[in-house]
Amino acid sequence: MISATAFAHPNIALVKYWGKRDLRLNLPSVSSLSLTLGPWRTQTRVTWGSYEDRVSLDGSWIEGSAAVKVLAHLDRIDPRRPPCTVVSDNDFPTGAGLASSASGFAALTLAACAAAQQDRSIDELSILARQGSGSACRSLWGGFVQWNRGQRPDGTDSHGAPIADQDHWDVSMVVAVVHDGPKSVGSTEGMLRTAQTSPLYQTWLDTAEANVHTAHEAVLKRDIQALGEVMESSTFKMHATMHTASPPLIYWQPGTVAAIQAVFELRKRGVGAWVTMDAGPQVKVLCLSKDADDVQRILQPHAQRVEVLRAGGPATVRVHAD
Ligand code: PMV
Repeated sequence: MISATAFAHPNIALVKYWGKRDLRLNLPSVSSLSLTLGPWRTQTRVTWGSYEDRVSLDGSWIEGSAAVKVLAHLDRIDPRRPPCTVVSDNDFPTGAGLASSASGFAALTLAACAAAQQDRSIDELSILARQGSGSACRSLWGGFVQWNRGQRPDGTDSHGAPIADQDHWDVSMVVAVVHDGPKSVGSTEGMLRTAQTSPLYQTWLDTAEANVHTAHEAVLKRDIQALGEVMESSTFKMHATMHTASPPLIYWQPGTVAAIQAVFELRKRGVGAWVTMDAGPQVKVLCLSKDADDVQRILQPHAQRVEVLRAGGPATVRVHAD
């Protein structure tokens, strides 16, 4: 019996992944680019070879669909695996608008492969993590990460790749939690509905790769304005495809719009700050770290709480014999 414990940070897409070219392999229709965020992280311990399959999440043993998803991921890693115990804890609040599935499946993949004594490259780990949750394939690395959509039908060229590590640039992501509550429509269902029904979806596909290229160059040049502008463009295009789906998919709440307007006002006063939203109501604001206090202050009246996050490092793992 071998156990391994992995740590992984969540990440937020600056240029978004929205749409799947293959549902079974979880292959994206577009490339995306993200920032790994610290200090928040998921810690996951996998014991390979226990008495029965058991999954604990944030201190409680769980059953049902979340546990099934975790165990199915272990089956993917080794279809002939023994019963396993998985104990996973997030040190950040759930519902904070940062996908814990990204850090969760990155940490699960890393811990499970180590506990199973599989010798896999980091690209292979990213490919496996992608099949648990798309955005998880970017959380293996720290700093800025690009996930290329890839061309191959088997998905072997669709994984994360590092662009610049967490020390490259002192940027912050200020997270305004404007609304607590369960997600109305999950990302897979939302992506399928958008692709099938939004008249804007083709434009989304046609412009995504150029956005990734622009963001990549902006990261390398440390050009916050160029990165902020392309991030907002990607965000609002993605939400435009959601809003024009049938039935419409609106993740925003009144506080979302109020926070967006507050950031636009701040920008008029000369502070470089740009917004992004995912499949939920929370508003996340990209800025240089020197401006994070200003951003936090203007978001406070519109949010239940505001958290300032910085670039995080790569996922890590250690093995222990029980
Ligand atoms: O990885 P998923 O299936 O949770 O989808 C993530 C989708 C977005 O968060 C909206 C965008 C992204 O690239 O993370």
